[in-house]
Amino acid sequence: MSSIVDDYLNEQKDNVIYQFKIKHDKDKLLKESNSVRYNAINEKNLERYKRLGFIEKDTISYDVEDKDWFNNQKDWKISSSLDNDSNSESERLHTIFKRLLQVDNLGPRFLTQKEGADVHYHIDGEILCAINFLVKGKRTPISFKDVGHFYYDVALVNTNHAHSVPKQIGEDRVLFKLRIKQMTFKEAKEKLVANENLRELWN
Ligand SMILES: [Fe+2]
Repeated sequence: MSSIVDDYLNEQKDNVIYQFKIKHDKDKLLKESNSVRYNAINEKNLERYKRLGFIEKDTISYDVEDKDWFNNQKDWKISSSLDNDSNSESERLHTIFKRLLQVDNLGPRFLTQKEGADVHYHIDGEILCAINFLVKGKRTPISFKDVGHFYYDVALVNTNHAHSVPKQIGEDRVLFKLRIKQMTFKEAKEKLVANENLRELWN
């Protein structure tokens, strides 16, 4: 029996995560994730890389509540940008979603989170939402502040709503992430839901 509380929570969920299926080669993604370099996501690094021009100004930023943790944490990392090798699984997926969302670039990256480490509540700066492929580490959910936690394999996530990842269990976490700055979660979700052509590729 659904209650007003259930309806409210479902509606909240609909505003933060949209889980869906698409055929993809996880082993290939995992291999690709092992052949790129990573940098810890922390205040010191982001400032330094921006100063040195390693990351374009204002393309990667995070709004993190726990400044002490964010200042120097080393267990949550982001890859350098991926070279667009057309034979790679990451670029194949990138091409599909660029076409579907009608945008030029989705800044694909891999992210890692070390087993035993948690990622504190944050909002991703510069992007509005993202499509995440969980390559490894499925025993740990994503948690949205005041909404709840959710397990997923592939999902559109609202990175503009404070989110965290609790202590990573069992193995390191690896994500492949398509970063969407051109439209809101709601707009991207509408496009994903509406696209009939892509549906053929999903199963
Ligand atoms: Fe995030």
